[in-house]
Amino acid sequence: MILVTGGAGFIGANFVLEWLARKGEAVINLDKLTYAGNLASLESVKSDPRHVFVQGDIGDRDLMERLLAEHQPRAVVNFAAESHVDRSIHGPADFIETNVVGTFKLLEAVRAYWGGLTGEDRANFRFLHVSTDEVYGSLGKNDPAFSETTPYAPNSPYSASKAASDHLVRAYHHTYGLPVLTTNCSNNYGPCQFPEKLIPLVIHNAISGKPLPIYGDGSNIRDWLYVTDHCLAIMAVLEKGRVGETYNVGGNNEKTNLEVVKTLCAILDELHPDSPVVPHEKLIVFVKDRPGHDARYAIDSSKIRNELGWQPQESFETGIRKTVAWYLANQAWVDNVISGEYRNWVQTNYATRT
Ligand code: NAD
Ligand code: TYD
Repeated sequence: MILVTGGAGFIGANFVLEWLARKGEAVINLDKLTYAGNLASLESVKSDPRHVFVQGDIGDRDLMERLLAEHQPRAVVNFAAESHVDRSIHGPADFIETNVVGTFKLLEAVRAYWGGLTGEDRANFRFLHVSTDEVYGSLGKNDPAFSETTPYAPNSPYSASKAASDHLVRAYHHTYGLPVLTTNCSNNYGPCQFPEKLIPLVIHNAISGKPLPIYGDGSNIRDWLYVTDHCLAIMAVLEKGRVGETYNVGGNNEKTNLEVVKTLCAILDELHPDSPVVPHEKLIVFVKDRPGHDARYAIDSSKIRNELGWQPQESFETGIRKTVAWYLANQAWVDNVISGEYRNWVQTNYATRT
């Protein structure tokens, strides 16, 4: 079996579902269930004996050592993190605690476990660390896309904390020989993403007749990848990736934020014509920019394409349509996550922008 951390979050939950459907191999899913973790995303595998959920912290070394000793996983896939840039600006401490200290403690527990393995179990063990393209910083309009050799230049507390975790993972390979793999992926979108991130926030606000807040002038560029394609990339790296290597993962879908929001509005005009305000574009408002807002991310994913034969299955046009349809069909999921904590966050982040 494999051990997944952060498997109740957006990408982790998609990964667990995809893994069980495709591989059939059991998963121990360790998640702290912060505001971003949601067991409703895992409802369909609730009584699947191949899925064992444990609530806990990657920074709890005793717990991690116990879980590793008890279940003897052949791999650990680390999704657990604080993941939202705006939250890292308002409160960076949790990002340092989980992304840096938590990853360090997890690495220590894994190193002890791996050190006790022998023969094939030791040779085949993998620790896969899921990271982001944001560690590379920000690109100018005509700069080449980020490759695996682009120097790290993180600009937000979030990306700095992920960069630190990537460095620790790298060091555990070079110093201790721990068989690690790292993936650095671009912006994901798809089902079960918490509605604090751009795409689900815009869908939720648009169908509720609320303003669609665009930071700055909306010209910032992100490279969007459908979440299932990211999960398939992680599976390919886990299976065939070269130990100690990093792999960039991206969709070749560079879009300005304004383009993304307008696309969402157009799809919603078609699929949800009964919203309080239509056309949905009328709800767009330009608000105060994010401090230190990275201008552009773009990923050169030729290494994973050429070495491992991975390529995205979903275009932006098909993926974004599926995503809107999923949110429209799963209002109960959204209602479930829009708790008091979510309302507090919306107040904290947006009240001072307009
Ligand atoms: P998310 O915020 O939706 O989920 C994170 C999950 O980790 C939650 O379930 C949360 O409860 C859990 N968690 C947080 N702290 C924990 C701790 N100390 N111990 C155990 N569990 C903890 O994030 P996501 O978007 O699913 O991202 C998953 C990973 O992928 C992160 O490492 C992120 O940096 C990386 N990533 C995300 C994107 C993206 O676009 N969302 C892109 C590239 C890489
Ligand atoms: P986000 O989904 O938070 O991802 P990231 O910051 O990790 O790229 O934001 C995506 C882009 O959308 C980013 O350039 C910031 C912008 N954005 C808005 O314009 N308005 C919003 O309300 C949010 C949440 C993000």
